[in-house]
Amino acid sequence: MQGDIDQVLINRHAIARRIHMLAGAIIDDLPPTDHGPAPLTIVPILTGSVIFLADLIRQLPVHMQIHLVSVTSYPGTATTSQGAAIRQGLTDLPDSLAGEHVLVVDDILDSGNTLRLVTAELTDRRPASLRTCVLLRKQRPEAMSFNVDYVAFDIPDQFVVGYGLDYDDYYRNLPDIVTLRPSVIGHEHSDQPTPSP
Ligand code: IMP
Ligand code: MG
Repeated sequence: MQGDIDQVLINRHAIARRIHMLAGAIIDDLPPTDHGPAPLTIVPILTGSVIFLADLIRQLPVHMQIHLVSVTSYPGTATTSQGAAIRQGLTDLPDSLAGEHVLVVDDILDSGNTLRLVTAELTDRRPASLRTCVLLRKQRPEAMSFNVDYVAFDIPDQFVVGYGLDYDDYYRNLPDIVTLRPSVIGHEHSDQPTPSP
């Protein structure tokens, strides 16, 4: 697996430092109540956000609930969005979010299709506020012009994996955000990524 890495774009220490700052901004933006910041409802987009989610929420010392939403957009070995769709099986959104301060958490903003779909679903449920947070934003026009509240890192318009992000469902467990060697991504229809030397 390590042999498939081309470049480390963002290492684990830089990610941890940035998440700490981001969490501070998220807390500061919550409306105050007599008992501290208002409770938060986190809506992570599966599966890519799971590692980011785990690190982020442990930096958010507020009452919170988590409601999962599962979206598929890069099936299999695709490296460009194939159009976003909600997968009902793993999604547990309540019918109403009235009065709740909702924060959507995703791994990466690319075409914006995923966040557009999810924010529309959530707006229908009438939350008190709705904010969006992504670990990565690709420097391409569709992503840069999309209105997102919190971005940890802007990255070049490249396909990346690690820290939750996958290629054909592999590499999510890499601790850093990396690019893959072109020879690995080239194997479009193989069952498994190229074995490491
Ligand atoms: P969008 O809908 O095109 O904005 O893409 C968002 C989703 O596509 C993310 O939640 C990721 O799951 C996936 N995605 C986009 N770019 C990448 C990438 O570079 N590596 C891995 N997954 C990606
Ligand atoms: Mg995703």
